[in-house]
Amino acid sequence: MTQKARKILVTSALPYANGPIHIGHMVEYIQTDIWVRFQKMRGHQCLYVCADDAHGTPIMLRARKEGIEPEALIARVAEEHKADFADFNVGFDNYHSTHSDENRHYASLIYQRNKDQGNISNRTITQAYDPVEEMFLPDRFIKGECPKCGAQDQYGDNCEVCGASYSPNELKNPVSAVSGATPVDRDSEHYFFKLGNFETMLKEWTRGGHLQHEVANKLGEWFEAGLHEWDISRDAPYFGFEIPDHPGKFFYVWLDAPIGYMASFKNLCDKTPGLAFDDFWGKDASTELYHFIGKDIIYFHALFWPAMLHGADFRTPTAVFSHGFLTVDGQKMSKSRGTFIKARTYLDTLNPEYLRYYFAAKLGSGIEDIDLNLEDFLARVNSDLVGKVVNIASRCSGFIKKRFDGKLADQLDNQPLFDNFVSAGQQIAACYENREFSKAVREIMALADKANQYIDEKKPWVIAKEEGRAQELHAVCTMGLNLFRLLIGFLRPILPATAEKSEAFLQIQPLAWNDLQKPLLNHEIAAFKPLMTRIENSQIEAIVAASKEDLEKQEAISAKSQGALASDPISDIIEYPDFAKVDLRIVKIIKAQHVEGAEKLLQLTLDLDGETRNVFAGIKSAYTPEELEGKLTVMVANLAPRKMRFGVSEGMVLAAGPGGKELFILTPDSGAAPGMRVK
Ligand code: MSP
Ligand code: ZN
Repeated sequence: MTQKARKILVTSALPYANGPIHIGHMVEYIQTDIWVRFQKMRGHQCLYVCADDAHGTPIMLRARKEGIEPEALIARVAEEHKADFADFNVGFDNYHSTHSDENRHYASLIYQRNKDQGNISNRTITQAYDPVEEMFLPDRFIKGECPKCGAQDQYGDNCEVCGASYSPNELKNPVSAVSGATPVDRDSEHYFFKLGNFETMLKEWTRGGHLQHEVANKLGEWFEAGLHEWDISRDAPYFGFEIPDHPGKFFYVWLDAPIGYMASFKNLCDKTPGLAFDDFWGKDASTELYHFIGKDIIYFHALFWPAMLHGADFRTPTAVFSHGFLTVDGQKMSKSRGTFIKARTYLDTLNPEYLRYYFAAKLGSGIEDIDLNLEDFLARVNSDLVGKVVNIASRCSGFIKKRFDGKLADQLDNQPLFDNFVSAGQQIAACYENREFSKAVREIMALADKANQYIDEKKPWVIAKEEGRAQELHAVCTMGLNLFRLLIGFLRPILPATAEKSEAFLQIQPLAWNDLQKPLLNHEIAAFKPLMTRIENSQIEAIVAASKEDLEKQEAISAKSQGALASDPISDIIEYPDFAKVDLRIVKIIKAQHVEGAEKLLQLTLDLDGETRNVFAGIKSAYTPEELEGKLTVMVANLAPRKMRFGVSEGMVLAAGPGGKELFILTPDSGAAPGMRVK
């Protein structure tokens, strides 16, 4: 059964560098990693690359909010992402960044070649512009009242209350979500990728077996709607790559994001002797290229990406594999229910292999959503992994150690049963290959049941007590451990760490798929150490509770950064002119009110000698409104207005203390009056 070794390059979508990895993301990275590990076990050359998607407006704004450079933000997040993936045993061969020299090179090259081919056009368009922040506003950064039902605080182009969709310029009383200012229309020249030039090529490609059926069908609808020109440029300020020859214009993040796959691979080539970029990306490459993605980003990967590649004389992907979205307990992950679980929050409490197993048990080759039912998760991991698989080893290994010097017999007790397992391996391999992981898991667990049944029938613990049956005991336990070895081999792509521990226990080399045909005989094994423990209910509860805590922390941080309260220690020295820019004023709190739905905020009406300001302050834990009314305090009067969930905050008041009840607003000495400048 020897097969020619394949050369395969695999990618997962590049996670955005503005937030943490959560268990929804992990569906994808675990799915891809299982497939890659399977290919490696089969003896193929399979390379798995990924990167952080580091460009775009949200990342720029996030950095600004934290008061750091985007480069510092993406460097920190990259470390967090890499640690999360490593701890989930996701084995990238390379993890890079779209903010890299390699990516700048290939983005410019692909743009230039497409331009030379006549695939780029330009024209002036009108867009919403924030006059305070001096930037164009992406749709999702414009808020206003729904033109249909009048619901307040609706983002971009659809209403969460009545479901209406509209264009952002139809919103009533629109405000910039960045500054709270009213957007104005402004013209600017943009560059477009002429997707329509690729209609014939794309129709062929999308029906050429490179996509799942349901995805190809969906694309059919998009073709009917027509292929529109795609706006690939953004104006400064933007965190990204400047377009060659067009200063002040930047590539839209989605232009250089998929090129990040190439960039990461190029970066790997540069540190791997013998690995050639063109073998995998050249026009005539005979290697395989697969992209694993979520169903939300199909448009980019199944239309724009193959077209861009084709237009720039690179190869197109062998296939794009899309998956569905994760729900928890049947619903969208929710911060308030504690089911928006960050990778790190999970890892703080539970073994990553449990989630890998559960996702595998749920994943098929289609794009249906998959549900993490927390009760089922606990039951399944405990019964399958701990109860069935690991148990086999613990039931047999003690006798081998105590009675046979740790050495396996030179013969199996039941060769046909072993052969039956070996031949099931072919079916299991086919399931892995076709990304039918749930079927693979079902097959493997059926074998685990058989193995347990075998041991239950043979009852080694009974044989062990009887005279003259040592040889039989030896053969039975050797048989049990050999079945265990096959099960671990079959599960290896899913449970790499458990497999590694098992290999140490069996004192064998890392299992390759072909090793699983021959039994392990006449071989000394190590003492058995428990490979896995049961999940306790309290652990699941702890994760859910910690995810709610995360939310509270998050709210406190955003309340802080939105101007309600500053409490971080001063860490950076600033020059006097910077300080002089801060307009501190004495104000009188003329009104203080609770804010419906806000746990930490009070709404203050502040008098600055005639002028009044509306400010939201995170001091509810320390003051009642009555205690505040009539008091004098200090405010930052020239802070850009901030749009918050409850309204626009026009400045901030100063307070000191660790938080909670211990928060103290600053009050001036007698004689000070509203409006006075603090110097
Ligand atoms: N940066 C883009 C991808 C660029 S690829 C050239 C992006 N990033 S993301 O961080 O939002 O998502 C990364 C991947 O995780 C995407 O494939 C996305 O579909 C997937 N998932 C994000 N949330 C998910 C769930 N809740 N469930 C399953 N997959 C999810 O999109
Ligand atoms: Zn509405």
